[in-house]
Amino acid sequence: MAITLLTHKRIVLAVTGSIAVYKAVDLASKLTQAGALVDVIMTDAAQQFVTPLTFQSVTGRPVYTDLWQTDNSGGLPTHIAHVGLGEGADLLAVIPATANTIAKLAFGFADDVLSVTALAARCPLLIVPAMDGGMYSHQAVQANLGTLAMRGAYIIEPEEGRFASGLVGKGRLPETPTLIGHIRRCLAQQHGSLLNRHVVITAGGTREAIDPVRFVSNHSSGKQGYALAQAAIDAGAIVTLISTVNLPTPIGTTLIPVNSAQEMQAAVLETCQHADALIMAAAVADFRPATVADQKIKKKEDTEGLTVEMTRNPDILLSVKQRREELHLPRVVVGFAAESEHLLDNAQSKLQRKALDLLVANDITATDAGFGSDDNRVVILDKDGGTQRLELQSKERVSEIIIERVATLL
Ligand code: PMT
Repeated sequence: MAITLLTHKRIVLAVTGSIAVYKAVDLASKLTQAGALVDVIMTDAAQQFVTPLTFQSVTGRPVYTDLWQTDNSGGLPTHIAHVGLGEGADLLAVIPATANTIAKLAFGFADDVLSVTALAARCPLLIVPAMDGGMYSHQAVQANLGTLAMRGAYIIEPEEGRFASGLVGKGRLPETPTLIGHIRRCLAQQHGSLLNRHVVITAGGTREAIDPVRFVSNHSSGKQGYALAQAAIDAGAIVTLISTVNLPTPIGTTLIPVNSAQEMQAAVLETCQHADALIMAAAVADFRPATVADQKIKKKEDTEGLTVEMTRNPDILLSVKQRREELHLPRVVVGFAAESEHLLDNAQSKLQRKALDLLVANDITATDAGFGSDDNRVVILDKDGGTQRLELQSKERVSEIIIERVATLL
Protein backbone atom coordinates (compact mmCIF):
# COMPACT_ATOMS: atom_id res chain seq x y z
CA MET A 1 0.00 0.00 0.00
CA ALA A 2 1.29 3.46 -0.91
CA ILE A 3 2.28 5.65 2.04
CA THR A 4 2.24 9.37 1.29
CA LEU A 5 5.24 10.18 3.49
CA LEU A 6 7.37 7.50 1.79
CA THR A 7 6.35 8.25 -1.79
CA HIS A 8 9.43 9.19 -3.87
CA LYS A 9 11.60 9.28 -0.75
CA ARG A 10 15.15 8.06 -1.45
CA ILE A 11 16.15 5.57 1.20
CA VAL A 12 19.61 4.06 1.22
CA LEU A 13 19.23 0.71 2.97
CA ALA A 14 22.61 -0.57 4.14
CA VAL A 15 22.53 -4.27 4.94
CA THR A 16 25.23 -5.96 7.01
CA GLY A 17 26.09 -9.57 7.83
CA SER A 18 23.48 -11.04 10.14
CA ILE A 19 20.96 -13.83 9.76
CA ALA A 20 18.39 -11.04 10.13
CA VAL A 21 19.21 -10.04 6.52
CA TYR A 22 16.15 -12.04 5.46
CA LYS A 23 13.99 -9.49 7.29
CA ALA A 24 15.76 -6.66 5.43
CA VAL A 25 14.59 -8.24 2.15
CA ASP A 26 10.98 -7.97 3.31
CA LEU A 27 11.62 -4.42 4.51
CA ALA A 28 13.12 -3.40 1.13
CA SER A 29 10.12 -4.93 -0.63
CA LYS A 30 7.51 -3.22 1.60
CA LEU A 31 9.27 0.17 1.37
CA THR A 32 9.29 -0.13 -2.41
CA GLN A 33 5.59 -1.07 -2.46
CA ALA A 34 4.92 1.97 -0.26
CA GLY A 35 6.42 4.21 -2.96
CA ALA A 36 10.00 4.72 -1.71
CA LEU A 37 13.06 4.50 -3.96
CA VAL A 38 15.28 2.03 -2.14
CA ASP A 39 19.01 1.82 -2.95
CA VAL A 40 20.58 -1.13 -1.20
CA ILE A 41 24.21 -1.32 -0.11
CA MET A 42 25.46 -4.75 0.99
CA THR A 43 28.62 -5.45 2.95
CA ASP A 44 30.68 -8.55 2.08
CA ALA A 45 29.32 -10.32 5.15
CA ALA A 46 25.70 -9.56 4.18
CA GLN A 47 26.32 -11.29 0.84
CA GLN A 48 27.16 -14.51 2.71
CA PHE A 49 23.48 -14.69 3.69
CA VAL A 50 21.62 -13.30 0.66
CA THR A 51 22.73 -12.34 -2.86
CA PRO A 52 22.49 -8.79 -4.27
CA LEU A 53 20.09 -10.16 -6.90
CA THR A 54 17.49 -10.74 -4.17
CA PHE A 55 17.45 -7.05 -3.21
CA GLN A 56 17.68 -5.96 -6.84
CA SER A 57 14.60 -8.08 -7.59
CA VAL A 58 12.46 -6.58 -4.82
CA THR A 59 13.56 -2.95 -5.29
CA GLY A 60 13.96 -2.91 -9.09
CA ARG A 61 17.16 -0.90 -8.55
CA PRO A 62 20.87 -1.71 -8.66
CA VAL A 63 22.57 -2.91 -5.48
CA TYR A 64 25.92 -1.47 -4.38
CA THR A 65 28.51 -3.92 -3.04
CA ASP A 66 32.01 -2.99 -4.14
CA LEU A 67 33.81 0.33 -3.70
CA TRP A 68 36.20 -0.47 -6.54
CA GLN A 69 33.78 -1.83 -9.10
CA THR A 70 33.61 0.48 -12.13
CA ASP A 71 30.74 -1.36 -13.82
CA ASN A 72 27.59 0.33 -12.55
CA SER A 73 25.04 -2.21 -13.89
CA GLY A 74 22.52 0.57 -14.40
CA GLY A 75 23.11 2.51 -11.18
CA LEU A 76 25.60 5.19 -10.23
CA PRO A 77 29.19 4.28 -11.23
CA THR A 78 30.56 2.92 -7.97
CA HIS A 79 33.54 5.30 -7.86
CA ILE A 80 31.09 8.16 -7.41
CA ALA A 81 28.26 6.18 -5.83
CA HIS A 82 29.54 6.70 -2.30
CA VAL A 83 29.04 10.44 -2.73
CA GLY A 84 25.98 10.33 -4.99
CA LEU A 85 24.08 7.77 -2.92
CA GLY A 86 24.39 9.73 0.29
CA GLU A 87 23.95 13.16 -1.27
CA GLY A 88 20.48 12.67 -2.74
CA ALA A 89 19.19 10.44 0.05
CA ASP A 90 16.45 11.31 2.52
CA LEU A 91 17.62 8.60 4.92
CA LEU A 92 20.53 6.22 5.41
CA ALA A 93 19.18 3.18 7.28
CA VAL A 94 21.60 0.50 8.48
CA ILE A 95 19.38 -2.56 8.98
CA PRO A 96 20.48 -4.98 10.36
CA ALA A 97 23.59 -3.35 11.87
CA THR A 98 26.26 -5.73 13.18
CA ALA A 99 28.69 -4.95 16.02
CA ASN A 100 31.47 -4.66 13.42
CA THR A 101 29.62 -2.08 11.30
CA ILE A 102 28.52 -0.11 14.37
CA ALA A 103 32.19 0.08 15.45
CA LYS A 104 33.27 1.22 11.98
CA LEU A 105 30.60 3.92 11.87
CA ALA A 106 31.47 5.13 15.39
CA PHE A 107 35.16 5.42 14.54
CA GLY A 108 34.65 6.87 11.05
CA PHE A 109 36.26 4.05 9.07
CA ALA A 110 36.04 4.34 5.28
CA ASP A 111 36.89 1.02 3.65
CA ASP A 112 33.71 -0.17 1.94
CA VAL A 113 30.67 1.33 0.18
CA LEU A 114 28.66 1.52 3.41
CA SER A 115 31.25 3.22 5.61
CA VAL A 116 32.30 5.67 2.88
CA THR A 117 28.65 6.53 2.10
CA ALA A 118 27.97 7.10 5.82
CA LEU A 119 30.77 9.67 5.94
CA ALA A 120 29.68 11.42 2.76
CA ALA A 121 25.94 11.46 3.55
CA ARG A 122 24.28 14.50 5.14
CA CYS A 123 20.85 12.86 5.63
CA PRO A 124 19.70 11.32 8.96
CA LEU A 125 21.32 8.04 9.95
CA LEU A 126 19.08 5.31 11.37
CA ILE A 127 20.68 2.24 12.93
CA VAL A 128 18.98 -0.98 14.00
CA PRO A 129 21.42 -3.29 15.78
CA ALA A 130 20.90 -7.04 15.43
CA MET A 131 23.25 -9.49 17.10
CA ASP A 132 23.54 -12.04 19.88
CA GLY A 133 22.34 -10.72 23.26
CA GLY A 134 25.78 -11.04 24.88
CA MET A 135 27.36 -9.02 22.07
CA TYR A 136 24.66 -6.33 22.17
CA SER A 137 25.07 -5.73 25.89
CA HIS A 138 28.90 -5.65 25.65
CA GLN A 139 30.39 -2.33 26.80
CA ALA A 140 32.22 -1.86 23.50
CA VAL A 141 29.00 -2.08 21.46
CA GLN A 142 27.08 0.11 23.90
CA ALA A 143 29.86 2.71 23.92
CA ASN A 144 29.91 2.80 20.11
CA LEU A 145 26.11 3.14 19.96
CA GLY A 146 26.38 5.93 22.54
CA THR A 147 28.91 7.75 20.34
CA LEU A 148 26.61 7.46 17.33
CA ALA A 149 23.57 8.60 19.34
CA MET A 150 25.49 11.62 20.58
CA ARG A 151 26.19 12.55 16.97
CA GLY A 152 22.46 12.47 16.27
CA ALA A 153 21.95 8.95 14.90
CA TYR A 154 18.43 7.54 15.42
CA ILE A 155 19.00 4.18 17.11
CA ILE A 156 16.26 1.60 17.46
CA GLU A 157 16.54 -0.87 20.30
CA PRO A 158 16.49 -4.51 19.21
CA GLU A 159 13.86 -6.84 20.64
CA GLU A 160 14.16 -9.64 23.16
CA GLY A 161 13.68 -13.19 22.02
CA ARG A 162 15.28 -16.38 20.78
CA PHE A 163 18.36 -16.18 18.51
CA ALA A 164 19.43 -18.53 15.71
CA SER A 165 22.02 -19.85 18.23
CA GLY A 166 19.21 -21.03 20.50
CA LEU A 167 20.13 -18.49 23.17
CA VAL A 168 17.56 -16.03 24.44
CA GLY A 169 18.27 -12.32 24.98
CA LYS A 170 18.01 -8.81 23.58
CA GLY A 171 19.32 -8.35 20.05
CA ARG A 172 16.64 -9.49 17.60
CA LEU A 173 15.74 -7.30 14.64
CA PRO A 174 12.14 -6.00 14.95
CA GLU A 175 9.58 -7.02 12.32
CA THR A 176 8.90 -4.96 9.17
CA PRO A 177 5.88 -2.91 10.42
CA THR A 178 7.89 -1.73 13.44
CA LEU A 179 10.90 -0.87 11.25
CA ILE A 180 8.68 1.07 8.83
CA GLY A 181 7.07 2.87 11.78
CA HIS A 182 10.50 4.06 12.94
CA ILE A 183 11.53 5.04 9.41
CA ARG A 184 8.33 7.14 9.10
CA ARG A 185 9.00 8.82 12.42
CA CYS A 186 12.61 9.53 11.54
CA LEU A 187 11.69 11.03 8.14
CA ALA A 188 8.84 13.11 9.62
CA GLN A 189 11.12 14.65 12.19
CA GLN A 190 13.13 16.30 9.41
CA HIS A 191 10.49 18.66 8.03
CA GLY A 192 6.96 17.71 9.10
CA SER A 193 4.24 20.38 9.13
CA LEU A 194 3.49 19.67 12.83
CA LEU A 195 7.08 19.45 14.03
CA ASN A 196 7.25 19.82 17.83
CA ARG A 197 3.48 20.36 18.09
CA HIS A 198 1.64 18.26 20.68
CA VAL A 199 -1.54 16.70 19.33
CA VAL A 200 -4.02 14.75 21.48
CA ILE A 201 -6.30 12.31 19.64
CA THR A 202 -9.13 10.15 20.99
CA ALA A 203 -10.20 6.87 19.39
CA GLY A 204 -12.83 4.16 19.79
CA GLY A 205 -16.19 3.90 21.45
CA THR A 206 -16.32 4.40 25.20
CA ARG A 207 -17.34 1.39 27.31
CA GLU A 208 -19.81 2.10 30.07
CA ALA A 209 -19.86 -0.66 32.65
CA ILE A 210 -23.10 -2.33 33.77
CA ASP A 211 -21.37 -4.85 36.02
CA PRO A 212 -17.84 -6.38 36.17
CA VAL A 213 -18.40 -8.33 32.90
CA ARG A 214 -20.83 -6.26 30.81
CA PHE A 215 -20.75 -2.82 29.26
CA VAL A 216 -22.72 -0.55 26.92
CA SER A 217 -20.77 0.68 23.88
CA ASN A 218 -21.09 1.43 20.13
CA HIS A 219 -19.66 0.27 16.81
CA SER A 220 -16.58 2.52 16.69
CA SER A 221 -13.52 0.40 15.83
CA GLY A 222 -10.95 3.13 16.50
CA LYS A 223 -9.61 2.91 12.92
CA GLN A 224 -10.25 6.59 12.17
CA GLY A 225 -8.56 7.71 15.40
CA TYR A 226 -5.51 5.48 14.88
CA ALA A 227 -5.18 6.67 11.27
CA LEU A 228 -5.21 10.25 12.60
CA ALA A 229 -2.48 9.37 15.09
CA GLN A 230 -0.29 7.93 12.32
CA ALA A 231 -0.93 10.96 10.08
CA ALA A 232 0.05 13.28 12.94
CA ILE A 233 3.24 11.26 13.55
CA ASP A 234 3.97 11.49 9.79
CA ALA A 235 3.64 15.28 10.12
CA GLY A 236 6.27 15.26 12.88
CA ALA A 237 3.90 15.85 15.83
CA ILE A 238 4.27 14.63 19.41
CA VAL A 239 1.15 12.47 19.67
CA THR A 240 -0.88 11.32 22.67
CA LEU A 241 -3.56 8.79 21.77
CA ILE A 242 -6.38 8.25 24.27
CA SER A 243 -8.03 5.03 23.23
CA THR A 244 -10.59 2.44 24.24
CA VAL A 245 -9.46 -0.15 21.67
CA ASN A 246 -6.50 -2.44 21.21
CA LEU A 247 -5.03 -1.79 17.74
CA PRO A 248 -1.30 -1.60 16.85
CA THR A 249 -0.18 1.80 18.16
CA PRO A 250 1.66 3.96 15.61
CA ILE A 251 5.38 4.07 16.50
CA GLY A 252 6.19 7.20 18.46
CA THR A 253 2.71 7.60 19.97
CA THR A 254 2.11 7.82 23.73
CA LEU A 255 -0.93 5.63 24.42
CA ILE A 256 -3.35 6.25 27.29
CA PRO A 257 -5.81 3.35 27.48
CA VAL A 258 -9.24 4.23 28.88
CA ASN A 259 -12.67 2.63 29.01
CA SER A 260 -15.44 5.02 30.03
CA ALA A 261 -16.37 8.57 29.01
CA GLN A 262 -15.41 9.76 32.48
CA GLU A 263 -11.94 8.19 32.19
CA MET A 264 -11.58 9.68 28.72
CA GLN A 265 -12.61 13.10 29.99
CA ALA A 266 -9.99 13.00 32.79
CA ALA A 267 -7.26 11.96 30.33
CA VAL A 268 -8.27 14.62 27.77
CA LEU A 269 -8.36 17.44 30.34
CA GLU A 270 -5.00 16.37 31.79
CA THR A 271 -3.16 16.07 28.44
CA CYS A 272 -4.79 19.13 26.85
CA GLN A 273 -3.24 21.47 29.41
CA HIS A 274 -0.10 21.46 27.25
CA ALA A 275 -1.47 20.42 23.86
CA ASP A 276 -1.56 22.46 20.67
CA ALA A 277 -4.46 20.51 19.18
CA LEU A 278 -7.18 18.07 20.22
CA ILE A 279 -8.96 15.80 17.75
CA MET A 280 -11.97 13.99 19.22
CA ALA A 281 -12.57 11.08 16.85
CA ALA A 282 -13.85 8.87 19.67
CA ALA A 283 -17.51 7.93 19.79
CA VAL A 284 -18.29 8.95 23.35
CA ALA A 285 -21.41 7.48 24.93
CA ASP A 286 -23.86 10.20 25.91
CA PHE A 287 -25.30 7.97 28.66
CA ARG A 288 -23.94 5.40 31.11
CA PRO A 289 -25.62 3.05 33.58
CA ALA A 290 -26.57 5.08 36.66
CA THR A 291 -25.05 2.44 38.95
CA VAL A 292 -22.46 -0.27 38.30
CA ALA A 293 -23.24 -3.57 40.01
CA ASP A 294 -20.37 -4.84 42.19
CA GLN A 295 -21.03 -8.44 41.19
CA LYS A 296 -22.12 -10.00 37.91
CA ILE A 297 -25.89 -9.53 37.57
CA LYS A 298 -27.51 -12.97 37.68
CA LYS A 299 -30.59 -13.88 35.70
CA LYS A 300 -33.49 -14.78 37.93
CA GLU A 301 -35.87 -17.58 37.08
CA ASP A 302 -38.98 -15.48 37.71
CA THR A 303 -38.04 -12.35 35.66
CA GLU A 304 -37.96 -11.98 31.88
CA GLY A 305 -36.14 -8.68 31.51
CA LEU A 306 -33.64 -6.32 33.06
CA THR A 307 -34.01 -2.56 33.25
CA VAL A 308 -30.82 -0.53 33.38
CA GLU A 309 -31.30 3.08 34.34
CA MET A 310 -29.02 5.41 32.39
CA THR A 311 -27.64 8.78 33.38
CA ARG A 312 -25.96 11.54 31.31
CA ASN A 313 -22.22 11.39 30.69
CA PRO A 314 -20.19 14.59 30.74
CA ASP A 315 -19.68 16.19 27.34
CA ILE A 316 -15.90 16.11 26.96
CA LEU A 317 -15.74 18.77 24.25
CA LEU A 318 -17.88 21.15 26.34
CA SER A 319 -15.51 20.72 29.28
CA VAL A 320 -12.57 21.41 26.96
CA LYS A 321 -14.37 24.54 25.75
CA GLN A 322 -14.62 25.78 29.35
CA ARG A 323 -10.93 25.09 30.08
CA ARG A 324 -9.90 26.81 26.84
CA GLU A 325 -11.48 30.03 28.03
CA GLU A 326 -8.88 30.14 30.87
CA LEU A 327 -5.83 28.43 29.35
CA HIS A 328 -6.24 29.28 25.64
CA LEU A 329 -5.08 25.73 24.97
CA PRO A 330 -5.46 23.62 22.90
CA ARG A 331 -5.25 26.25 20.18
CA VAL A 332 -7.10 24.04 17.72
CA VAL A 333 -9.97 21.69 18.58
CA VAL A 334 -11.51 19.31 16.06
CA GLY A 335 -14.70 17.37 16.68
CA PHE A 336 -16.34 14.60 14.70
CA ALA A 337 -20.05 14.16 14.22
CA ALA A 338 -21.66 10.81 13.61
CA GLU A 339 -25.09 11.57 12.19
CA SER A 340 -27.89 9.40 10.85
CA GLU A 341 -30.02 12.33 9.55
CA HIS A 342 -29.72 16.06 8.73
CA LEU A 343 -25.94 15.66 8.52
CA LEU A 344 -24.92 19.24 7.79
CA ASP A 345 -27.47 20.98 10.04
CA ASN A 346 -26.66 18.80 13.03
CA ALA A 347 -22.93 19.11 12.36
CA GLN A 348 -23.14 22.90 12.11
CA SER A 349 -24.94 23.18 15.42
CA LYS A 350 -22.32 20.93 17.14
CA LEU A 351 -19.51 23.04 15.67
CA GLN A 352 -20.97 26.17 17.22
CA ARG A 353 -22.18 24.75 20.52
CA LYS A 354 -18.81 23.08 21.24
CA ALA A 355 -16.78 26.08 19.92
CA LEU A 356 -14.81 23.91 17.50
CA ASP A 357 -12.35 25.06 14.85
CA LEU A 358 -13.20 22.14 12.58
CA LEU A 359 -15.94 19.54 12.61
CA VAL A 360 -15.67 16.36 10.56
CA ALA A 361 -19.15 15.08 9.80
CA ASN A 362 -19.85 11.50 8.75
CA ASP A 363 -23.11 9.89 7.78
CA ILE A 364 -23.15 6.67 9.81
CA THR A 365 -26.00 5.17 7.79
CA ALA A 366 -23.61 4.62 4.83
CA THR A 367 -22.53 0.97 4.65
CA ASP A 368 -19.20 1.65 2.92
CA ALA A 369 -17.96 4.33 5.36
CA GLY A 370 -18.01 5.44 9.00
CA PHE A 371 -18.08 2.85 11.79
CA GLY A 372 -15.72 -0.08 11.35
CA SER A 373 -14.87 0.31 7.66
CA ASP A 374 -11.42 1.07 6.23
CA ASP A 375 -12.79 4.04 4.28
CA ASN A 376 -14.67 7.17 5.14
CA ARG A 377 -16.67 9.86 3.36
CA VAL A 378 -16.85 13.12 5.29
CA VAL A 379 -17.57 16.83 5.13
CA ILE A 380 -15.21 19.12 7.03
CA LEU A 381 -16.93 22.24 8.35
CA ASP A 382 -14.90 25.15 9.68
CA LYS A 383 -15.84 27.91 12.08
CA ASP A 384 -15.79 30.50 9.28
CA GLY A 385 -18.60 28.72 7.45
CA GLY A 386 -16.43 26.83 4.93
CA THR A 387 -17.14 23.24 3.90
CA GLN A 388 -14.81 20.69 2.32
CA ARG A 389 -16.39 17.52 1.00
CA LEU A 390 -14.14 14.44 0.90
CA GLU A 391 -15.39 11.63 -1.32
CA LEU A 392 -15.00 7.99 -0.26
CA GLN A 393 -11.33 7.26 0.43
CA SER A 394 -9.16 5.47 2.97
CA LYS A 395 -9.27 6.65 6.57
CA GLU A 396 -5.49 7.16 6.21
CA ARG A 397 -5.99 9.68 3.40
CA VAL A 398 -8.91 11.40 5.17
CA SER A 399 -6.67 11.72 8.24
CA GLU A 400 -3.81 13.27 6.25
CA ILE A 401 -6.18 15.95 4.96
CA ILE A 402 -7.52 16.68 8.47
CA ILE A 403 -3.97 16.88 9.84
CA GLU A 404 -2.96 19.32 7.10
CA ARG A 405 -5.98 21.49 8.01
CA VAL A 406 -4.87 21.42 11.66
CA ALA A 407 -1.29 22.34 10.66
CA THR A 408 -2.58 25.29 8.64
CA LEU A 409 -4.64 26.53 11.62
CA LEU A 410 -1.63 26.25 13.94
O1 PMT B 1 -13.80 4.26 14.96
P1 PMT B 1 -14.21 3.99 13.53
O2 PMT B 1 -14.85 2.62 13.36
O3 PMT B 1 -13.07 4.20 12.58
O4 PMT B 1 -15.35 5.03 13.13
C1 PMT B 1 -15.08 6.41 13.09
C2 PMT B 1 -16.21 7.23 13.69
C3 PMT B 1 -17.46 7.07 12.84
C4 PMT B 1 -16.49 6.81 15.12
C5 PMT B 1 -15.72 8.71 13.70
O5 PMT B 1 -15.47 9.10 12.41
C6 PMT B 1 -16.74 9.63 14.37
O6 PMT B 1 -17.67 10.11 13.76
N1 PMT B 1 -16.54 9.93 15.67
C7 PMT B 1 -17.47 10.77 16.51
C8 PMT B 1 -18.63 9.96 16.94
C9 PMT B 1 -19.51 10.73 17.89
O7 PMT B 1 -19.45 10.49 19.05
O8 PMT B 1 -20.22 11.71 17.37
P2 PMT B 1 -21.24 12.66 18.21
O9 PMT B 1 -21.98 13.35 17.15
O10 PMT B 1 -22.00 11.83 19.21
O11 PMT B 1 -20.30 13.63 19.02
C10 PMT B 1 -19.81 14.85 18.49
C11 PMT B 1 -18.44 15.16 19.04
O12 PMT B 1 -18.52 15.35 20.45
C12 PMT B 1 -17.45 14.06 18.84
O13 PMT B 1 -16.18 14.64 18.52
C13 PMT B 1 -17.39 13.36 20.18
O14 PMT B 1 -16.10 12.78 20.41
C14 PMT B 1 -17.68 14.47 21.15
N2 PMT B 1 -18.41 14.05 22.37
C15 PMT B 1 -19.56 13.35 22.29
C16 PMT B 1 -20.24 13.00 23.42
C17 PMT B 1 -19.71 13.36 24.68
N3 PMT B 1 -20.31 13.02 25.80
N4 PMT B 1 -18.57 14.06 24.75
C18 PMT B 1 -17.93 14.43 23.60
O15 PMT B 1 -16.90 15.10 23.67
